Amino acid sequence: MFNFRHPRRLRATETIRQQVQETHLRVSQFIYPLFLVDGKNTQIEVASLPNNYRWSLDKMLIEIESCMNLGLKSFVLFPAVAEELKDKWGTYSYAEDNFYLKAIRTIKECFPESCIMTDIALDPYSSDGHDGVVEHGKIVNELTLPILAKMAVAQAQAGADILGPSDMMDGRVGYIRAALDSQQQQQVAIMSYTAKYASAFYGPFRDALNSAPKMGDKKTYQMNPANKREALIEAALDYQEGADYLMVKPALAYLDIIHILKENFDIPIAAYNVSGEAAMLIAAAQRGWLNYDKAMVEMLTSIHRAGADVILSYFAKDFAKLGISY
Ligand code: PBG
Repeated sequence: MFNFRHPRRLRATETIRQQVQETHLRVSQFIYPLFLVDGKNTQIEVASLPNNYRWSLDKMLIEIESCMNLGLKSFVLFPAVAEELKDKWGTYSYAEDNFYLKAIRTIKECFPESCIMTDIALDPYSSDGHDGVVEHGKIVNELTLPILAKMAVAQAQAGADILGPSDMMDGRVGYIRAALDSQQQQQVAIMSYTAKYASAFYGPFRDALNSAPKMGDKKTYQMNPANKREALIEAALDYQEGADYLMVKPALAYLDIIHILKENFDIPIAAYNVSGEAAMLIAAAQRGWLNYDKAMVEMLTSIHRAGADVILSYFAKDFAKLGISY
C-alpha cells in the first residue's frame, strides 16, 4: 500500500521545523549554581569544572549582575567552608557570623528581583564530609533533622527564596517545613532533592567544596542508581510533607526518573544537571571532540523534554549567552 504519511515534509525548512518544534527552553527556567568562599577579591577556578569558580562575595555580585543582564535571575549557592570551621555537627551552618548567610542577605539587598536558592545538608560544614551526623560510623537520621531545621530557619531569615534540602534524610521536608512555619517563614519554598542518587557524577562539586566523605560513601542515604519505583515513594513522601518542587539528580542518566515524576505529580519538577555531567562536555569540547554549544543545547533539551520544568545547570549562563529563544 502507498504510504501518504511523509514525516520529512515537516522537516523541510528551518521555518517549518521551528513552527512544529515541541520543546522550548527558556532562560527563565534555569537556576545557575555558584560556589561562594569567604574573603575578598577571590575568584578561583574549579580544576575539574573549568569556567566555574569559587567566588568571594564582592566578585560574585559582579557575576550575578552579568547573569541578570542576560535574563538569568535564579541562582543556587553553595559555600566552600574552611576546614577549621568544620565539626561533627556542622554547627557553622547556622552560626551568627556565617559568611554564606551574610552573602544571601547582601545579594537579596542588591538584587531584590533575583531568586536565591540554598542548600540544606551537613556536608560542606561536616568534618566527616557526610550530609548527616556520623555516630559510630553510621549516619544518624534523628540527630541530623534538628540541625537541618536550624540551617533552614537561618537561611530563610537571611532572605532565601527557595531552600534545597539535598541531604536525603527521611522525614526532613516535613520537619523543616514545621520549623519554618513555627518561625513565621511560611513564604519560603522548599525544592526537595527528592530522587537524589548515589552518583559518581558529583566529583567536581566535591572538589569545589572540598566536601568528599572522609570515610565510606553516601549509599545509606542517597538512592541506588538501579531503582526507579523507589523514586515514587520518595516523591509521595516529599509531596505529603509539603515540598513545593520535586527534584531529580543527576539529570542526564536519570531522564526516566524525571519522566515518571512528571507523569505522577502536579507540582513543578526540577532536574539537577550535575557537575560531572557538565565536566564531561567541557572536557570533550576542550579537545575539539564535541561542539560545546550544540551538545549543550541538546543535553538541556533532553532534560526539559523528559519533563523537567526547572533545570539547575552549570550551563545556564552559556545558554543565556546564546540569546536564543529556543
Ligand atoms: C550536597 C550536594 C551535592 C551536590 C549538591 N548538593 C554533593 C553530594 O551529595 O555529594 C552535587 C551537585 C553537583 O555535582 O553538581 N549534599
